[in-house]
Amino acid sequence: MEKFIVEKSPPLKGKVKIGGSKNSALPILAASLLTQESCTIKDIPKLQDIDIMKKILEDLGATVIWDEKDNVIHVQSSNITKTEANTELINKIRASFLIMGPLLARYGYAKVALPGGCCIGARPVDLHLKGFHNLGAEVIQEHGYVIARANMLKGAKIYLDFPSVGATENIMMASVYAEGQTVIENCAIEPEIVDLANFLNSLGAQIKGAGTDTIKINGVKKLEGAEHTIIPDRIEAGTFMIAAAITNGDIILENVLVEHLKPIIAKLKETNVNVEELENALRVYKDENTVLKGVDIKTMPYPSFPTDMQAQFMSLLLCGEGSSMVTETVFENRFMHVSEFKRMGAEIKIDSRTAFIEGKSKLSGASVKATDLRAGAALVLAALNADGITEISDIHHIDRGYCSFDEKIRLLGGKITRMKSS
Ligand code: UD1
Repeated sequence: MEKFIVEKSPPLKGKVKIGGSKNSALPILAASLLTQESCTIKDIPKLQDIDIMKKILEDLGATVIWDEKDNVIHVQSSNITKTEANTELINKIRASFLIMGPLLARYGYAKVALPGGCCIGARPVDLHLKGFHNLGAEVIQEHGYVIARANMLKGAKIYLDFPSVGATENIMMASVYAEGQTVIENCAIEPEIVDLANFLNSLGAQIKGAGTDTIKINGVKKLEGAEHTIIPDRIEAGTFMIAAAITNGDIILENVLVEHLKPIIAKLKETNVNVEELENALRVYKDENTVLKGVDIKTMPYPSFPTDMQAQFMSLLLCGEGSSMVTETVFENRFMHVSEFKRMGAEIKIDSRTAFIEGKSKLSGASVKATDLRAGAALVLAALNADGITEISDIHHIDRGYCSFDEKIRLLGGKITRMKSS
């Protein structure tokens, strides 16, 4: 077990290169199970979640070669020997459930452990299963597993009660070989959905409408191999934008797609932080004399403010002038970071799904715990601006989604050290 020791830091300054998106890379790796031809996926972030997905694919019989130096993965799924996934591996990451759609599509059978809830919410998979069922699969849940089987999947109209990212991805992958047309209505429109559709189309799938609330998939008989580059990680980018703002710094983020960052940029500008668009880069800066204004945010599916940036943005609002309101509508229990912020002196009250934040909190270093991935990153951000020393435990959560987080912060001038926990 490791921990971070973070000291109040000077303004973070310099350039940081944003990696490929974790939430794009995971479904795209799962999608490589759909073809027996070779897939080359570039800009794969060096993260623990990716390593687990790699092991899941290998356990099924795929050959996966990860060139970590060049951030490239080659997958060859011509020798799949199993359609029942290794439960121990599956339980490590929720995104592992995304192998269900590809296995069902290619082999007509899949058995995968039912993902449990996690600390941010119950996170059911009913919409994924409704999609498989509508495509003609028999779906059974028993002894903690989901078993789906079908002789031949048939295109269908599937309406999602909520635009779930995972359900949209799983159903899109399940339907690529289905006979006729599948229409997914009220689907998610996140950039990661578009990236997955682009990858599948480069394999030869026929998917239209990704990025809108209706996706149409015309079933094909065969998929080829392809080379694909993962989009930049908009949440890693957003986190470094806050790092610049919270330390009155000046950071240039390279490898970003500004289009994907619109809600974060808009809210940062409302707080008085400067955001300047450069070519394929973004400059975020604030001088210490400009007053940081409190603002209200409400998380919603894309293109609204992302739930994955809620905790990090809250760390910024703690230093704002005036009060702010943060409403979480996507997950039912995503305020675990609040009690940790309070240990650092933050004044926050929670009423149901809204957190009321008293700005200008005088934060001081304390021993806190990273309760989940984004909550952990938010604690690092708050600690950069807190008096004294903050000790953050359980940082394995942070390593799941940020590649060399501490190293990147140090290169910008932040005072953060990784240590073994005693
Ligand atoms: C993905 C992201 C995660 C992000 C989330 C929302 C990945 C690997 N993870 O998670 O980082 O926070 O999108 O942007 O891409 N729901 C149901 N039934 C279902 C599926 C979902 O009720 O069958 C609910 C969930 O409980 C949750 C909401 O829908 O309240 C959103 O979940 P979803 O969009 O599916 O998130 P994930 O795909 O799990």
